[in-house]
Amino acid sequence: MNVNGRLAVVGDPSQLSGVDGEHNPEGLLSALDETRVHKTPYEIACLARANHIAMQGHWAARKTFLDGGSEFEINLAYQQATGQREAQAPYHSIIGVNEHAGTLHYQYYDTEAPARPRSLLIDAGVRFRGYCSDITRTTPGAGERRFAALIQGLEQLQQRLCGMVAPGVEYVAIHRKTHQGIAALLNAAGVVQGVDDETLVEQGVTRAFFPHGIGHFLGVQVHDVSGKKEPPPSDAPFLRLTRTLEAGMVVTIEPGLYIIPSLLDPVLDGPLGKNFNRSVIDELRGCGGIRIEDNVVVTHDGARNLTREAGG
Ligand code: GLY
Ligand code: MN
Ligand code: MN
Repeated sequence: MNVNGRLAVVGDPSQLSGVDGEHNPEGLLSALDETRVHKTPYEIACLARANHIAMQGHWAARKTFLDGGSEFEINLAYQQATGQREAQAPYHSIIGVNEHAGTLHYQYYDTEAPARPRSLLIDAGVRFRGYCSDITRTTPGAGERRFAALIQGLEQLQQRLCGMVAPGVEYVAIHRKTHQGIAALLNAAGVVQGVDDETLVEQGVTRAFFPHGIGHFLGVQVHDVSGKKEPPPSDAPFLRLTRTLEAGMVVTIEPGLYIIPSLLDPVLDGPLGKNFNRSVIDELRGCGGIRIEDNVVVTHDGARNLTREAGG
């Protein structure tokens, strides 16, 4: 790019040695990234299509799980229903049955189904004309009434959070609202007793159950660019998006609630440990965790949920 006598070269730094011009100048790169933040109607149509195709895969995955399939077989069902090879996918599908649902980036596929299938967490997308979907669904096994109720509670929270998406809203506020909602859910489900919601948030208990951010920009990259003009606040260090929402932005809303022993056990051993219902925790350990993730477009007067429009 040659502008006003200045030459800029954008590319892989390892390939640019000896090439004339300014290599990847910071100001140019961030200006180029900014052009990707507000999606055009064409881009939104591609993202909608990527959601529609992915949901066919999610339904097939759920059916295969409920029919007793292994993680490997669930992955094959997802690929078949989406007509997408692994190499074309926007990311390696996360398919966790039982305890594996609590491993945030679980990357293996067991070829054997467990004797007692208790839960399925599948985080899988599709790439359509370069644009990605990024969708997570959690399904309870037959007879898992407590876990099913917890999924329903998280789903209601997730829908309230999606309802917050609108121009002028701070994305960080949606993240903070998630922690309040997780605290209320822990109390309502009887996981915790005798501690109010604010204390659960302030003491970091909700962070043990929900350790990641509420989501990110979505586009030609799953974690699309330019999400952080400001660094994340100290209470949300992993948040990938810290901007005020504007029409045309596309975000994910992906609350989770997991039993992760390395995060939860120190809380159970701490001063609030006596307030946890251990038998409920122990029952949930075998189910691993829950995440529900939708792809949402910010419109001029609110939002469009592409995942729910696709039947998700
Ligand atoms: N599938 C990656 C993510 O949800 O961010
Ligand atoms: Mn995501
Ligand atoms: Mn995801």
